[in-house]
Amino acid sequence: MNKLVGITRNFSSSASLNAIKTVTVVGGGLMGSGIAQVTAQAGQNVYLIDTQKEQLEKAQKSIKNNLVRVAKKTFKDDAAKADSFVKESLNRIKMSTALEDGVNVDLVVEAIVEKLDAKQELFNKLDQLCPEHTILATNTSSMSVNEIGSRIKRKDRYGGLHFFNPVPVMRLLEVVKGEQISEETYQTLMTWGKSVGKTCITCKDTPGFIVNRLLGPYSAEAMRMYERGDASAKDIDIAMKLGAGFPMGPLELADYTGLDTKKALLSVMLQKTGHPVFQPIGLLNRLVAEGKYGRKSGEGIYKYEKSKV
Ligand code: 3HC
Repeated sequence: MNKLVGITRNFSSSASLNAIKTVTVVGGGLMGSGIAQVTAQAGQNVYLIDTQKEQLEKAQKSIKNNLVRVAKKTFKDDAAKADSFVKESLNRIKMSTALEDGVNVDLVVEAIVEKLDAKQELFNKLDQLCPEHTILATNTSSMSVNEIGSRIKRKDRYGGLHFFNPVPVMRLLEVVKGEQISEETYQTLMTWGKSVGKTCITCKDTPGFIVNRLLGPYSAEAMRMYERGDASAKDIDIAMKLGAGFPMGPLELADYTGLDTKKALLSVMLQKTGHPVFQPIGLLNRLVAEGKYGRKSGEGIYKYEKSKV
């Protein structure tokens, strides 16, 4: 899969800033594959790049499964339309392990590991390799958008696009304004977010933006409550579903999002805000050290049957 799978090499990319037609998503994990999926669903061509071939294979499977779910819902009474929706959307996604295959596009969305060095290195490469007009965006959940892009030259064509898991279902997109983003780039990002079916809101580059700034402390307190033995995991989750109307309880949600992601998020939030609610949590650190990342690894706070992971 080092070479692009089954396509002509370049999608056209002569678009002006206001017309995103071709997109590259870097990082084939939960978020990256979801972003690639909604982009393809919206009729845009998308490259999904990941250095790990296995990750791309996993992404391909999950995108296909999730497209089938969307198709069933959207084309309830028309199996042929549902089938062609899935096929056409899949055909718009090209996967590669080589970053160079995805640089000639209008927008690049980065969704790699939450490590500052890795993100900065990637953006430096993209800044050098992508054509002048390409907008670069990070899907970081808690790091500073400005810090990630601090070494790139095209700061006017750079910002944050923060999606939520599961990307095909969650309707929100936080559009984060980098300090030097141009009005044109910002408007283009807002328009693009809408084009992939999201309701866009505008955020400043503050730690956790809006959603994670509020969800982080909530989730951390739920874990501490469970760690102290105040209540069972199941009862904490039932409490917030039935008592507060959340679709998932906080511990289920932590497993769903990934405990490794949660740990990284807390650590960045602590560093950025110094707030004690973001202090390390023994239980979380132990589970992550044991490779128990939640649903995606088969075990986290809960255990999952393989077929349901
Ligand atoms: N792709 C496509 N469709 C999906 C899907 C996916 N990955 N996952 C679920 N769906 C669809 C299902 O097909 C179903 O459709 P239907 O209603 O037409 O039958 C619908 O969504 C509901 O799914 P399920 O019946 O399987 O299960 P639930 O009703 O329990 O819903 C859920 C699942 C949508 C995940 C819901 O529990 C939920 O909204 N949970 C909260 C998620 C959340 O808070 N996310 C934000 C996390 S924070 C974050 O992402 C920030 C980051 O920075 C870490």
